[in-house]
This record gives sequence, structure tokens and C-alpha cells, in this order.
Amino acid sequence: MIEFAASAPPLLSVRDLRAYFDTNDGVVRAVDGVSFDVRRGEVFAVVGESGSGKSVMATTIMGLPRTVRIASGEVRWKGRDLLQLPESEHRRIRGKEIAMIFQDPLTALNPVHQVGRQIGEMARIHEGLSRKAAGRRAIEMLDLVGIPEAAKRARMYPHEFSGGMRQRAMIAMAITCRPDLLIADEPTTALDVTVQAQVLEVLMRIKDEIDSAIMLITHDLGVVAGLADRVMVMYAGRTVEVGTAPELFYRARHPYTLGLLASLARLGARRDEPLVPIPGAPASSIEVPPGCAFNPRCSFVSSDGRCAQTRPELREATAPGHLAACHELEALDGVSVESVRRAGTGR
Ligand SMILES: Nc1ncnc2c1ncn2[C@@H]1O[C@H](COP(=O)(O)OP(=O)(O)O)[C@@H](O)[C@H]1O
Ligand SMILES: [Mg+2]
Repeated sequence: MIEFAASAPPLLSVRDLRAYFDTNDGVVRAVDGVSFDVRRGEVFAVVGESGSGKSVMATTIMGLPRTVRIASGEVRWKGRDLLQLPESEHRRIRGKEIAMIFQDPLTALNPVHQVGRQIGEMARIHEGLSRKAAGRRAIEMLDLVGIPEAAKRARMYPHEFSGGMRQRAMIAMAITCRPDLLIADEPTTALDVTVQAQVLEVLMRIKDEIDSAIMLITHDLGVVAGLADRVMVMYAGRTVEVGTAPELFYRARHPYTLGLLASLARLGARRDEPLVPIPGAPASSIEVPPGCAFNPRCSFVSSDGRCAQTRPELREATAPGHLAACHELEALDGVSVESVRRAGTGR
């Protein structure tokens, strides 16, 4: 078992989580042995390409996808394994202690109810507030997420809100019961860049006000720079690297993380400087190669064939708590993002 460096006991502790879908085409190993901790009050970013298992991981923690098969693992929340809880217990924790914000607020907001009523409903269910008190709470929450004329807006319907306002309303709904953990799954992906920044700003401000931890899920490593305390990089349903933000951004060791960093537009880069995408196609979660899932796209593959044969386990990279799953960690010492970028562009 891996040693996770931590001072206080973690709020959420996920160990060897495997969440599969049995389909006609075969078993989809959406989440295939993920382990991590989220600590109280921190911003924990989960980054990976589309299809890497981020949403399935998040919804499994929330106990949401009914069709998923939990093949193994533990999801410890304040010491209790959520996967072993009866649905009624899980439902009580969901919304009150752990709340989720989705990419598309229209799927989460009910079109036929006033926004304020939906927000208040959370407080009615979980805290037993009266209709009147819940209404007041809703306005207070809308105000907190920076929606002007909150009392008036509370009486409006989701379709009367702009995309950014809807996302704020979703955040308001999620924080109504002051959860200890907010899981935000691509909360800004559907929004344009300016609105994205505003919504992220609201999210970070809220985090301080209600003192919650945030799991910020995104396919864009650039989004979490400057926001995340720690970052976990996922590839094909597995954790390939995890560490503090400085470790991930300045001392990344896994070839996939290095590739993601190299593909970020460099600050101050010339307009005509090419972006360097990671070569090759994202891994399939059905035909998972026996060794390292990233091996077919990796330019640091070992000559002894280990990468194709044996699955690399997470191990310490540059400091306690900075872990990477790569056979070639030692050989990667000193490899810079710049050199990966140059190798990618062929200059
Ligand atoms: N209901 C489902 N049935 C079968 N496969 C699914 C289902 N939901 C997700 N998947 C597959 O699981 C993998 C991970 O998906 P997902 O967690 O949504 O990725 P991400 O959120 O990182 O983009 C993908 O290969 C996806 O196609
Ligand atoms: Mg997703």
C-alpha cells in the first residue's frame, strides 16, 4: 500500500477504486484502481483527457450511477466506507455533506420550478427548514454567489438565466447546506472564457466562506493553475501522478503529465508557435493494455519491455506525497517540459 503523507486525517480517502461497466462490447474499465485523499479545506484538482474516468469516479463517490459495477475499493468519508452504506444513508450525506456541481446546469436544475424554490428545497430536505425559512436561505445563497437582485431572481425559472447565472445558481444549490466537500465536474467547460473565470472566482470565494474542500475536475490542466492546492492526473481510469500544485507544475515526472504541460500554451509564446498535442489517441477503456496504459503514446518507454508488460504502481517521485506511476521515474529525473515540447515540435 502506498504511503500518503498527511498531517490531519483526510476528509475523503479513496483506495483502489474500480468502477466497471459491463457492455456488449466488453468490460469498460472506467475507473481502474484509483487511490487518493482529499483533505479538509483544500482544492484538489483531478485532471485528465475526456474519457479518462473522471466523471465516473466522481459519481461513484456520490453513489449515483446505478449501472456501474464496483469491482473493488473503498471510499472512506469521515471514517465510514460510503460504498457499504445503505442508499438511504448515502442519500443523507449526498447534498448535505458532499455536494456536486455538474458541467451542464440544465440537467441538474428542474425547468418547471423557480430557481429559488429548488435551492430552498435542499435546506427543507436536509435541515427541515420551513418553506419560508428555506425561501430566505435561497435568496441568501443566490446573493452569496453574486447574483444581483437575488430576491427577484429567486422567483425566475432556469431558462430565464444566462449560462453563467445558471452555473452560479447550481453552485448556490450545492452550497445551501454548507457541505464539507464540493465536487465540481467541469463546472466551466460549457462557458465562454470570461464567464469561466467569474464562475471559478465565485467557487474559490465560496470555498473560503463555507470552509469546504473542493474537488475540481477538468480536462484542462491550465484551468487549475493558481487554484489547486494539489493535483491528480488520471489516464485511462488510473492515477498516473499526484502531488502539490508546485510539484505537478514544476517537478512533474510522469511522461503523460509532462505531455499535458507541454501542450499548454506557453505564456508569452509567439502566436505562430505550435501547440504540442500528445501524439497518439487516448487509451480505450475496453482493451486496456497489460502494462502501462500510456505506453503506446510514451516517448520514454524502457528498453526491457517492462512498460508493455507490467502495470506501474504509484511511488514517490520527488517528495513524500508526490507520487507517480511510471517504471522510468529515475530516468525522467531532469527531463524538462521544454525538452518534451521541443521533441514534440521537432525543433
Ligand atoms: N454508462 C456507461 N456505460 C458504458 N461506458 C461508460 C458509461 N459511462 C461512461 N462510460 C465510459 O467510461 C469511461 C470514462 O468516462 P467518464 O468518466 O465520463 O470520462 P471523463 O469524465 O474523464 O471524460 C469512458 O470510456 C466512457 O465511455
Ligand atoms: Mg466527465
